[in-house]
Amino acid sequence: MKALLVNCGPVRDGATAEIIRMIAASVSAKYTVKSVCIGDYAIRFCTGCRSCHETAECALPPDGVTALMAEIAAADAVICVSPSYWAEIPAQFKAFIDRCTPWSNTHEPHRTVPGGKRGYAAALRTGLNPAECERITGSLAHFYGHLGIPCCGRLCLTGVENKADVSGKTDEILRFCEKINGE
Ligand SMILES: Cc1cc2nc3c(=O)[nH]c(=O)nc-3n(C[C@H](O)[C@H](O)[C@H](O)COP(=O)(O)O)c2cc1C
Repeated sequence: MKALLVNCGPVRDGATAEIIRMIAASVSAKYTVKSVCIGDYAIRFCTGCRSCHETAECALPPDGVTALMAEIAAADAVICVSPSYWAEIPAQFKAFIDRCTPWSNTHEPHRTVPGGKRGYAAALRTGLNPAECERITGSLAHFYGHLGIPCCGRLCLTGVENKADVSGKTDEILRFCEKINGE
């Protein structure tokens, strides 16, 4: 079984990366884990041409979308962890979601990823109101849903400004990992 952990922000060694390291350690007995960062992929913006609604193919040249979708296609569990940027998913990952329209089940034909996957959504922010994180996990669940991936667990972490703050969230992160491990 393979788990793909996706850092939806561009910071490779910050709070999101630390949470991903903790999740990876907790699920590694059940899964072969691969961790990636959206910043590792060069992704053009969707131009809104909608040709993929007719062809299920993107009119743009292949780029990082191809590589990241291949990782998602190969995974049994997809775990996206997103920092809040102005109360939203960071633009880099939102650009990826927009470019996944060829895979969206809102139109025919559309591309598909292999079935049987489970999705998990986590969000973190500096502020203390969880509603902002819940909106982000809701957006991630919406993305999964249009790919036919059920969202099987969510984690909302508030009061996380940087990597050092993550150690205070160990219990919440481990409870989230129990869902991923099916406990
Ligand atoms: C551009 C930017 C925008 C941010 N916007 C918000 C925000 O709207 N609400 C909030 O609570 N935190 C916000 N933050 C704080 C991050 O969500 C928080 O510091 C998070 O822990 C950063 O994770 P990272 O270390 O992986 O980048 C923002 C941070 C950045 C860099």
